[in-house]
Amino acid sequence: MSPQLVSHITGIRSATGATTQGWFVGCPLTARQFVESNPEQAIDKIVQAGQLAQQLGAEIVGLGAFTSVVGDAGITVAQALDIGVTTGNSYTVATAVQATLEAAELVGIVPRQAHATVLGATGSIGRVCAQLLAPQVGALTLVARRRPPLEELADALSLGGSQVDIQTDINQALRDADMVVTVTSAVDSIIQPEMLKPGAVVCDVARPRDVSQQVAEQREDVLVIEGGVVSVPGNVQFNLDFGFPPQTAYACMAETMILALEGRCEDYSLGRHLELSRVREIDRLAQKHGFSLAGFRSFERPVTEEQIDKVRRQARR
Ligand SMILES: NC(=O)c1ccc[n+]([C@@H]2O[C@H](COP(=O)([O-])OP(=O)(O)OC[C@H]3O[C@@H](n4cnc5c(N)ncnc54)[C@H](OP(=O)(O)O)[C@@H]3O)[C@@H](O)[C@H]2O)c1
Repeated sequence: MSPQLVSHITGIRSATGATTQGWFVGCPLTARQFVESNPEQAIDKIVQAGQLAQQLGAEIVGLGAFTSVVGDAGITVAQALDIGVTTGNSYTVATAVQATLEAAELVGIVPRQAHATVLGATGSIGRVCAQLLAPQVGALTLVARRRPPLEELADALSLGGSQVDIQTDINQALRDADMVVTVTSAVDSIIQPEMLKPGAVVCDVARPRDVSQQVAEQREDVLVIEGGVVSVPGNVQFNLDFGFPPQTAYACMAETMILALEGRCEDYSLGRHLELSRVREIDRLAQKHGFSLAGFRSFERPVTEEQIDKVRRQARR
């Protein structure tokens, strides 16, 4: 199928009074098709989707989910379009790290004494999450399938004085982890119930999820939260049900809205080496325009006090 218009998004209103609107444009490939197809063909289709957005009147395009994972993470797409392009990954990083630290505090984990693990640590989102977490946690384990990029990142982070090690075996990496940010581009779930430490907090940023649904069914003693769920200011109507409560969006969608409200319709988060300064800037702009982290959700449901209590008891042990 060709890219097509899915819905008109209305009612975004910043705390500054600025307003914007947009469109969801569907790029009809599954995550597996994105990974397994010829990258050039997939990128062609994403460019066609961007051209459709341009015809509709868009001045900036946000690449959602696997449209930002394929190829060089948006660089080629941006070169082929006449309007701004962003993957939305800078704000995704900011919200994922903030949510992980807040969730850890809720269950009584003290980050400076905790062992944190980032899965997908060499990716566009994972790399900057690791950079932000390294100075705030007791020890950090970086995980991906390929060793050389992991070694390079670990060396850079160790230079800053952080205690960092690397792993390609997920089981080993999770055994002692108190805090986990998981953001791989795996198309199947890679975190199974038996892998997690009791009392652990896991922020699953990946779409499709990295954490198996079975964790929700079998592990009341761990807290799994969805990364990057953001409240949108104004009376936003997405006119499309993507599984979130009203007035909330993925952080990557929010980044596109923030840039539009700010009048910064330019290329922003592209490629696999994002700048920390951009993560901090978009976080500041998000606050200015009234975007904020939404309440914690776990496997499509709000997290309850009772759930947090159960995990807190385990974390104390
Ligand atoms: N929640 C949100 O708002 C939001 C926003 C944007 C993107 N996302 C999602 O975030 C995820 C990552 O996006 P990205 O742009 O950072 O992708 P990316 O740049 O392609 O990075 C993927 C990372 O995962 C690793 N990896 C892939 N498969 C793995 C496996 N089976 N086991 C362990 N590590 C594996 C890769 O390294 P190796 O290849 O060496 O293994 C790399 O470090 C995607 O699922 C995307 O849909 C979510």
